[in-house]
Amino acid sequence: MYYSDDIIEEVRSANNIVDVVGSYVRLQKKGANYWGLCPFHNEKTPSFSVHEGKQIYHCFGCNAGGNVISFMMNYENMTFGEAMKALAERAGIALPEVNDEEAKRRNSKRERLLECNKAAAKFFYFNLRSPHGEIGMRYLKGRGLSNETIHKFGLGFAGKNSGELISYLRKEGFEDREIVEAGLASHNERDGLSNPFWNRVMYPIQDQGGRVIGFGGRVMGDAKPKYLNSQETLIFDKKRNLYGLNFARTSRVGNFIMCEGYMDVIALHQAGFSQAMASLGTAFTVEQAQILKKYKPEVVYLAYDSDGAGVKAALRNIGILRDTGLNCKIINMRPQKDPDEFIKANGADEFQKRIDNAENSFFFEVRIAEEEAGDMKDPAVKTAFHKEIAKKLCVFTDEVERNNYLEAVCDKYHISFDAMKKLVINTAADVDREKVYQAPKSGINRRERIKDREKLPQRTLLTLISDNPEIYPQIKKYLSIEDFTDEIYAQIAKRMFDDLESGNMNPAAIVSMYTEAEEQRIVSEVFNSEIPNIDSPEDTAKAIKDVLIAVKNAGFEKFSSEIDMTDAASLNAVVTARLKRDSELSEIQKLNIRL
Ligand code: UTP
Ligand code: MN
Repeated sequence: MYYSDDIIEEVRSANNIVDVVGSYVRLQKKGANYWGLCPFHNEKTPSFSVHEGKQIYHCFGCNAGGNVISFMMNYENMTFGEAMKALAERAGIALPEVNDEEAKRRNSKRERLLECNKAAAKFFYFNLRSPHGEIGMRYLKGRGLSNETIHKFGLGFAGKNSGELISYLRKEGFEDREIVEAGLASHNERDGLSNPFWNRVMYPIQDQGGRVIGFGGRVMGDAKPKYLNSQETLIFDKKRNLYGLNFARTSRVGNFIMCEGYMDVIALHQAGFSQAMASLGTAFTVEQAQILKKYKPEVVYLAYDSDGAGVKAALRNIGILRDTGLNCKIINMRPQKDPDEFIKANGADEFQKRIDNAENSFFFEVRIAEEEAGDMKDPAVKTAFHKEIAKKLCVFTDEVERNNYLEAVCDKYHISFDAMKKLVINTAADVDREKVYQAPKSGINRRERIKDREKLPQRTLLTLISDNPEIYPQIKKYLSIEDFTDEIYAQIAKRMFDDLESGNMNPAAIVSMYTEAEEQRIVSEVFNSEIPNIDSPEDTAKAIKDVLIAVKNAGFEKFSSEIDMTDAASLNAVVTARLKRDSELSEIQKLNIRL
C-alpha cells in the first residue's frame, strides 16, 4: 500500500459515494438505499444499491461491490492509486508524494506513456483536419463515416512526413526514450528516431477507461501491410484489450457483437450497434473472454468475415467463449464479406434481423462439419459425420442441456435419437480416454464447495453483527478471531470488533484496508448480504445463535485438525479445547439475545 490509512480515509470520506456513483448511474432513493441499474452487468430492473450510511455499494444481481474507491477502480478500470488520485482531485485534497520508490517510478512511467499516446492522438486528430490530412478525410468520408463518428472514435491521420509526430512530441516535452517506450517510434543508430506510421488513417486504441494505449493505422490504397498496429508496450497489452469495448461496455443492450476489423466496429456503432467491438489484429484470447464475462452479456455474437478465415476464427472462439461460460451465436454475413460491407449494402434494420436470426454456436459447428464432410450419400462419410456430432455433444456436461441438443440435432439431420444417444455414450468414454473431454471449467469444484460451506457462517455472522451492532456486547465473550478460519474474514472480524469496542464502526473504511478490487468486493459483501428467512427479531436472534455455533464448530475442527495428536500434551490441548467448546455451545444455546 502506497498511501497511509489516514490519507486513504480522508480521501474516501471526502467523496460521498452517492454523489460519485450518482454522476455515472441514475440513482433513486428507496428506504435506506439508493437504487439504480447496475453498471457492471446488464439488467432491466435495478438491483444495484448504494448505501449512504455505510458508504458502500452492492449489486444483488452480480455481486459487484465496494466503497467509493472500488467503484472508481471497477467503473473506470483504474488502479487503486489512480482511483485515489481521481478522488483526491475531485475533493481538492493534495495527496502526499507516494513513498514507495518503485511504485512511484512505475506509475509515473505508465502515466507518461499514456500522456505520450494521448498527445500523439491529438496530433493525428488535428492533422486529419488540416490541409495535410485532406486525403485521409476524403478516404474516411468515402467509406461513409460521418463527422460525428470520426470524432467519437478520435480518428486521425499520419501524413507523408513521419518525422512531424516526433518533433511534435519532443516539443510537448517527451524524451526520445519515452516516445520509443510509448510505441510511437523506433530507434536506430543511423537515423535516430523513426515513426512507423505515415500516410495512414489512424485509429486510436483505447482501454476500457477510454485512455489511448496504442494505434492501428490503415494505409491509403492497397499497400502492404494494410493495417499497422503499435507494438505492445507497458500500457498496451493486446491480450487484455478490445477495440471499442470502452463504448460497448456501457451500451446496456445485454449483448456484445464481436467483429474482426476496426472498420467493422466503427460502421456498426454508426449504424446504432454500440455493443460492437473487436480483438486487436490478433486472435481472440481467454483473457479477453474473461473481461467480457465481467459484464454478464446474455450472448456474445460473432460477426466475423464470411470467408474461410472468418469461419476458422469463429470455430476457435466458440470454444474459448464456451469454456469461459459465455453463450455465443454466429451472425451470418452472406453474401457480404464483413459487417461494414453488410451495413453499407443492406442497412441497420437488415443487420438487426441477422442478429435476431443468429445461429446457435453448436448448430454452426455442426453445419460447418457437414459442409466439410463431403458426400453424405457415402455411408463412410455419413458415419464419420455422425461421430463428429456425437463428439461435439459430449461438450455439454449438463444432461438436460445435452439431451435438448441431441434431440434438436437428430431432428434436423434425420438421425435416430436412440442411435445417437448410444453413440454419444460411447464417444464420451473414448473422448475421456483421449483426454479431449474436459470437465467444464466454470462451476467450482468439490473442495472449493466445502471450503465455501465453511466460509458462509463466518460471513453471515459478520453480516448479522454489522446489521445489529447491539448484539456485539452480548456475544463478544464467545467471539474469537481464531474461529474465523478464512483469512480475509478473520481480518474483517478483527477490525470490526476493534471498531465496535471504540464505538465507531465504519464499513467503507474497512473496505479500504484492501487495494485489490476482488478483496474489496468480498468485504463489502459482508456489509450487504441478504440473509434469507429473517423477518423478525426472534428470527435474527435464532440466526445469530445458529451461525455462532457453526462458526465455533468449524473453528474447533480446524484447530484440532492442525494439531499433531501423537503426544499426550497436544492430545490434552484438544480435549481441553473440546470441553471449552462444549460448555460455550451450551451457554450460547441458553443466551437470551435482545434486539
Ligand atoms: P480486415 O482486412 O478484415 O480488416 O482485417 P477490415 O477492417 O475489414 O479492413 P478494411 O479497412 O475494411 O479493408 C481485420 C482486422 O485484422 C487486423 C486489423 O485489426 C483489421 O481491422 N489486420 C488486418 C492487421 O492488424 N493487419 C493487417 O495487415 C490486416
Ligand atoms: Mn472491411
